[in-house]
Amino acid sequence: MFRPTSQVFFHWGVSKLNEQMIFEDRDAGTFRVNRQALVSEEIYKAERQKVFDRCWLYIGHESELDKPGDYRRRVMAGRPLIFIRGNDGECRTFYNTCTHRGALICRADQGTAKVFQCFYHAWTFDNKGALIGVPDEEGYGESFSKDALGLKPIERMDSYRGFHFISFNPEVEDLRSYLGEAADYLDLVIDQSEEGMRVVPGTNYYSTKANWKLLVENVPDAYHAASTHETYWQYISDLGVQMSGAIGGGSARALGNGHSVIEAPAPYGRPIAIWHPLFGEDLKPEIERVRERIWANHGEDRGQRMTRNIRLLVIFPNLMINDIMAVTIRQCWPTAADGMDVLAWELAPREEDARLLSARLDSFLTFLGPGGFATPDDVEALESCQSGFAATGVGSSPMMRGLRMKTDREFMDEVPLRTFWRRWNASMNDISYEDWEVSPRQRELVGVGA
Ligand code: FES
Ligand SMILES: [Fe+2]
Repeated sequence: MFRPTSQVFFHWGVSKLNEQMIFEDRDAGTFRVNRQALVSEEIYKAERQKVFDRCWLYIGHESELDKPGDYRRRVMAGRPLIFIRGNDGECRTFYNTCTHRGALICRADQGTAKVFQCFYHAWTFDNKGALIGVPDEEGYGESFSKDALGLKPIERMDSYRGFHFISFNPEVEDLRSYLGEAADYLDLVIDQSEEGMRVVPGTNYYSTKANWKLLVENVPDAYHAASTHETYWQYISDLGVQMSGAIGGGSARALGNGHSVIEAPAPYGRPIAIWHPLFGEDLKPEIERVRERIWANHGEDRGQRMTRNIRLLVIFPNLMINDIMAVTIRQCWPTAADGMDVLAWELAPREEDARLLSARLDSFLTFLGPGGFATPDDVEALESCQSGFAATGVGSSPMMRGLRMKTDREFMDEVPLRTFWRRWNASMNDISYEDWEVSPRQRELVGVGA
């Protein structure tokens, strides 16, 4: 039976693309994405409104604002923002614009401040956003009220276990329900720590000449790992590490709302669980101690998943958590139809032993850093796809791996890609979202089993 849920067209403003972006035939087991979705200027412009103005968006981790007055400057969906902890201890987000005539109030990427003074006419705001100083205030007359001219707070802000999110949409659903089952996967990362996780100071920041959605496809795509990152596997095997665990087992799951995860036994070392020659002999006992502590606190099943398994989590639209040989929080922002900025931070347990932390940071940079073994390979692959899209004679890309069959390499299925694209398509077309792959009934219908 043919279900027409994705057979819809784009209509917005005066520009009509009249083109279908996703071609899904559930009975035939086919799924294709129109490459126009990755090159079109109209789509790039419409995404701001249809995707980024509606969802919850990750803004930062509570540990980035440890002390009152700590702030981070962010630009999200083109808007300048200040993410700040006030003197009252509360984390807030304000639009980074002077309520007088618009100058940027915060002009440094990060710091600690009791007040922000605008450099243009010297209006002064405190770290809770209140306007507290206006030179020559009498000149404005009696109707002027400083109370009405504080920094404008973001429409919505909420947090989940230290991960802060904002939304430009006042009507956005509650954050906890938006996260759906993805919250449980965040727990698997956060609970690795006894005293809480923290973002290690410093940000990886780089640009790529490729559409932002290509990175969201790339992160949970285990299919590319063996070929694209061949140099890394060679390097690891030269160190004497057996790579037999790299294939087989694991799972790829839709988590609701466009979020997804792949999870599988680690084929390499993890600072909380699996010793690796890269970590050095003297770290073995500490890594084992941490693993035993986690198993004791969370039980063997969950403890195994936390320590032995890696996971690559995508929270729609643009937050990616790589819990592999280090934990990386990554986010990508479109800058053009064929360009994005990528930000990445390392997350580590607050209590982590200094030597282990240094091994973690080494893994973080060795594989995932901008100059590591993986990122330059991935950037090359993504930019190469973007160049390939200019060959307009080939209009779409197939993404049906694992759509109608169960294999022992489910980890490599393209479930996360389809999940993302279905949700993206629903947002762009203002239609209700249904994630077929999250429904056990649908799996039963095609004989896959829940
Ligand atoms: S624009 Fe900020 S004080 Fe005038
Ligand atoms: Fe990769």
